Amino acid sequence: MDETSKKPVSAFEKRVKRRIASRQHTFYISTAPGLIGRLEREVAETLGVIPERLTGGVSFAGRLERMWEAALSRRFANRILVRLAEFSASDFRRLEKRCREVPWELWLPEGAAVEVAASAHHCRLYHTGAIEERVGRVVDTALGGRGQMAAQRITVRGENDRFTLSLDATGDALYKRDLKVHGGRAPIRETLAAAILDMVGYTGAEPLVDPMCGTGTFSIEAAMVASHTAPGLFRSFAFEAWPSFRLPAFQHLREGLLAKKMAAPAKIVASDGDGEAIRRLKETLPHLPFGEAITPLQADFFELTPEALGLKEPGVVVFNPPYGKRIAGGGSELVLRLVERLSSCWAGWRIAIAVPKNQIPSSLRKKSSLSVYPLAHGGLDLSVLCGTL
Ligand SMILES: C[S@@+](CC[C@H](N)C(=O)[O-])C[C@H]1O[C@@H](n2cnc3c(N)ncnc32)[C@H](O)[C@@H]1O
Repeated sequence: MDETSKKPVSAFEKRVKRRIASRQHTFYISTAPGLIGRLEREVAETLGVIPERLTGGVSFAGRLERMWEAALSRRFANRILVRLAEFSASDFRRLEKRCREVPWELWLPEGAAVEVAASAHHCRLYHTGAIEERVGRVVDTALGGRGQMAAQRITVRGENDRFTLSLDATGDALYKRDLKVHGGRAPIRETLAAAILDMVGYTGAEPLVDPMCGTGTFSIEAAMVASHTAPGLFRSFAFEAWPSFRLPAFQHLREGLLAKKMAAPAKIVASDGDGEAIRRLKETLPHLPFGEAITPLQADFFELTPEALGLKEPGVVVFNPPYGKRIAGGGSELVLRLVERLSSCWAGWRIAIAVPKNQIPSSLRKKSSLSVYPLAHGGLDLSVLCGTL
């Protein structure tokens, strides 16, 4: 661009740059119970930082670009928060004073609506509704009133009269990849599907069969793992509305991640007995950048064999069968039948079956070739039965 056509940098932009964009911040990445170790490893490997392990997640320090990168590329993360302030407060006057010290107008767009979520344990300020109202009022005043744009989320966490103020950088939880154009009866969360693929050691070089695929979550996550596609490339984030957001730098980051994409993965078969689920998946796949890697098929699992699918080398079979909660017909009897079928027709394949904790038959817990890993799914305690039969 011609130097003379450059827009002059305003005093406000200079303040945002000096106080927000060119500073280091502390970020907290939350995840589901049971996934913290995976998230810790993922952050260390891909961002090159040693994160600190905390309750419910990990934290790391860096500039905003590192947080953008984390949002685009973390498979096991739920949310990313930016820590804005930490202070002691035992009355509302002090809470409001410390809250006013945060330069909200540099963090959030003018007129943004905000949603405040507070928690308080062993605090003299215990009325979370009142905390939310007071903090919301301070932020509204700083931003000049509420506009029409999507609300930004602020969290206030109190413990023993010590409060942490944070800003949610992600918006919708990160398990929402915005890839599926269809819903299903009981989809598993993408973050958990990715973790189960990791537990069973899926690399993308081996075939994968998702024989009770429903909406195809395991198959779509597998195709992304295999093609090294960052899971956040197809969605938007709350931080894109912040004054500190720089589209060219963000695009550069996205293009770098897109360039990392690899060749097509080994065959992925997404099958289900429900013809409607397969019809919907067939409609979705052409919209996915790696959709051609997935073969949709209507089939009863108990009639499927690797030979009939043309799969000569063993790979991975992964599913979360009906729990009998949202879909009838699940339970430990089904788990036993699945393992019997897998033992007789899928010898040498690595398997992962996610079911409610109490549905793993005790005979399978004793099977030396299988391990059981705990996992929490939307308030339900799951166990993942993993191993080679
Ligand atoms: C809990 S859902 C799976 C959800 C899926 N993982 C997702 O993320 O959308 C269980 C699925 O198993 C399918 N199913 C149940 N019994 C089956 C069988 N014998 N053969 C094939 N599919 C079956 C159901 O139609 C349902 O779609």
